[in-house]
Amino acid sequence: MADPTKSAEPTDATPNVSEVELADTHSVEEEIAALEAPVDRGEPILQVRNLVKHFPLTQGIVIKRQIGAVKAVDGVSFDLYQGETLGIVGESGCGKSTVAKLLMSLEQATAGEVFYKGQDITRLSGRALKAVRRNIQMIFQDPYTSLNPRMTVGDIIGEPFDIHPEVAPKGDRRGKVKELLDVVGLNPEYINRYPHQFSGGQRQRIGIARGLALNPEIIICDEPVSALDVSVQAQVINLMARLQDEFNLSYIFIAHDLSIVRHISDRVGVMYLGKMAEIGTDEQIYEHPTHPYTQALLSAVPVPDPEARERRERIILTGDVPSPANPPSGCSFRTRCWKAQDKCAEQVPLLAVPEVFKGLDTPAAHDSACHFAEQKDVVHAA
Ligand SMILES: Nc1ncnc2c1ncn2[C@@H]1O[C@H](COP(=O)(O)OP(=O)(O)OP(=O)(O)O)[C@@H](O)[C@H]1O
Ligand code: SF4
Ligand SMILES: [Mg+2]
Repeated sequence: MADPTKSAEPTDATPNVSEVELADTHSVEEEIAALEAPVDRGEPILQVRNLVKHFPLTQGIVIKRQIGAVKAVDGVSFDLYQGETLGIVGESGCGKSTVAKLLMSLEQATAGEVFYKGQDITRLSGRALKAVRRNIQMIFQDPYTSLNPRMTVGDIIGEPFDIHPEVAPKGDRRGKVKELLDVVGLNPEYINRYPHQFSGGQRQRIGIARGLALNPEIIICDEPVSALDVSVQAQVINLMARLQDEFNLSYIFIAHDLSIVRHISDRVGVMYLGKMAEIGTDEQIYEHPTHPYTQALLSAVPVPDPEARERRERIILTGDVPSPANPPSGCSFRTRCWKAQDKCAEQVPLLAVPEVFKGLDTPAAHDSACHFAEQKDVVHAA
């Protein structure tokens, strides 16, 4: 059980953790009970609505003046269901890590909401935030820099218990850490070793053990295998899939590459310049993509079968990703899209089932933010 705590009342203003007022309408016990209640499998455990993060761009040294904003995340919405893996894919700088930090409340949202079990956590502070953070953990990309080189593995994995001693009382901690080492496939006798005494894959296992320490429900994995050798990537992904079954975890799995998330994801969201371009099930995104950007990304995925590779249509995107400080009007992909028309510069396409597929019983009927969405066989069937 987490410590008793209070939660904050939503306000109309931009969420500001330090300014929120504590709710006096609910008891502490009610707030905590709501956070810890088991979730119905049919309900999303996390609902993200119109999430926005704009970083101010300033000029001047003594007197700082805001001259613009980096629109790192610009209205992102999605759901995460219990026990599922949602892959989030997109090119460097499209806002994936910023979304992760917003979900962890490591960054404060400019606007929008993140509902965890129905409660908006962007407006929480103090002990209520601490209670939520116990249930939402993160695994980072680089196992070399995310582990403190001066701490033993036992201290690294056991560190979360300092903040949440109720999970492992003092006398119990070494035993708990040894259990966690065993769970992630490391020898429990390594408890006194330092990070530099492990390989990259083993270090990522240490990061996963630390992420599991507080028995979370959701783990946000920000490119957890991108820094690893290809041969080790599969081992770590298999470990994560096993742990998901064992502990009924929900994952958000962030990656650059559609091929990495395919094996672990139930659904996939494709981000471009701070927005979600397309989102759907594995089958919908990989076999029936309707957004030109997803089609281009898929066309670049390595295809092991030589015959399928022959049939594959490569779509080479021209131009660079525009600056998020100055995104194009209308559809932000239009400067690189081979299908762009006047409407694309004038109207922002909404993330929804495109009109052309509405009501049809086809896997193409899924959310896609394109005025001219259509199916395209990137890897043609034999
Ligand atoms: N603290 C910050 N201040 C200003 N701009 C920021 C800050 N953090 C991120 N950005 C900008 O926001 C945009 C999105 O960054 P983010 O790190 O979320 O991208 P990403 O998709 O995770 O990229 P990568 O794949 O390279 O990790 C980038 O243009 C980045 O420069
Ligand atoms: S809305 Fe227009 S520019 Fe954007 S992806 Fe669709 S066709 Fe391309
Ligand atoms: Mg990132």
